[in-house]
Amino acid sequence: MWSTALVLASGLASPALAAKLIASHFSGPVYTLDLSLTNATSGTLKVASQVNNGCGRIPSWITIDKASNSVYCFDESWYGSGVLAQFAADDQAVLTPKASAPTLGNTVFGALYGGDDDKSFVITAEYSPSTITTYKLPLSASSKPVQKLSFTMPKPGPRPDRQDKPHPHAAFLDPTKEFMVVPDLGADLTRIFKINKATGELTACPTAPSLSGDGPRHGEFLETKGGLRYYSLNEVASSVGMYNVTYEGEGGCLTLDLAQTLSTFGDRKGQTTEKAAELRIAGDFLYASNRNDQKFGKELDSLAIFRLDTAGDGQMTFQELTNSHGFFPRPFQINKAGDLVAIGGQTTANVAIVARDAATGKLGPLVANINLPPRGTNGGEDGLSAVLWYE
Ligand SMILES: *[C@@H]1O[C@H](CO)[C@@H](O)[C@H](O)[C@H]1NC(C)=O
Ligand SMILES: *[C@@H]1O[C@H](CO)[C@@H](O)[C@H](O)[C@H]1NC(C)=O
Repeated sequence: MWSTALVLASGLASPALAAKLIASHFSGPVYTLDLSLTNATSGTLKVASQVNNGCGRIPSWITIDKASNSVYCFDESWYGSGVLAQFAADDQAVLTPKASAPTLGNTVFGALYGGDDDKSFVITAEYSPSTITTYKLPLSASSKPVQKLSFTMPKPGPRPDRQDKPHPHAAFLDPTKEFMVVPDLGADLTRIFKINKATGELTACPTAPSLSGDGPRHGEFLETKGGLRYYSLNEVASSVGMYNVTYEGEGGCLTLDLAQTLSTFGDRKGQTTEKAAELRIAGDFLYASNRNDQKFGKELDSLAIFRLDTAGDGQMTFQELTNSHGFFPRPFQINKAGDLVAIGGQTTANVAIVARDAATGKLGPLVANINLPPRGTNGGEDGLSAVLWYE
């Protein structure tokens, strides 16, 4: 009776008071989480369901296509083979494995692109083989890559321990959906490809250099009064870069020109033990996560908040550091309403939900938290890997 009452209560809750999230853990599981709020600043986060063996051995990243009730999951397996998995979500976001394709593993990111609907193909980024690979959807056990591009560089970068060779860390669309953007942490540049929407084929455009030793990892585009801008999260330097964007490059290519760089620590540079991870933009604010600064106490790292001059040319101004409520905040995402942020602590293997003030951009207080064991090891590629709002 008790569980029936709970089901009824959550079924009756207004959408604003309940939300679903999807999270992946490097040890294998992909979770559906239920957030229920008693008010704007207090709630509970629970595991609603989980799939244990659907995304290979080391799930590292997820992407959601809510319109088709699909969740894609990417396997970082470094055992020589991996999977690219698709799950079907029911109306309660409960996942069941739907399709999967074999990969060579080591995937750290994936995104949909191409076709008439801009989601007929999927691209993956492989960190250590230094490749990006594309597949046609739907996936099956006999799926083969449409294209695989391998990158090399003549000698290691300025941080040879991190930049021994190219390390493509993400792959995502520009706002026109005509170009694929691939930040390369090892090569200190952002790769740009023109998309043939019909065939899914990518053709290389000139690359966009970052500062030496930046190590670009993720990024987002934003239209400002002064024009389109691209904001880069630089993992190796723990910094954020703002690039002017044009479509006036060779052959009509997208170009990125670096205009501003700021530390994710405000008044000091990042140390070699610190690794920025994720970047998100909401309204006039940009957020970046810092791994291993322990600014807010033992195993409590920070998120940096920047104000963006969206009414001008998009310049960033550092505002403050705020508590991420976890250790190694690898993923985080702001919900569509802009009033809550889900933060994944990689090493603490937790998901923290914090309130967001859309007017001031400030984060906090902590609304809810859940630990999803096992914890990761200090500095290890284990623990919680990704978390996204299912909306
Ligand atoms: C929100 O709910 C919590 C838990 O019931 C309560 O402690 C807190 O005072 C409430 N806050 C507001 C602003 O109503
Ligand atoms: C970026 O664009 C602004 C105008 O919006 C211009 O002042 C600035 O010089 C440009 N910077 C680069 C590096 O292209």
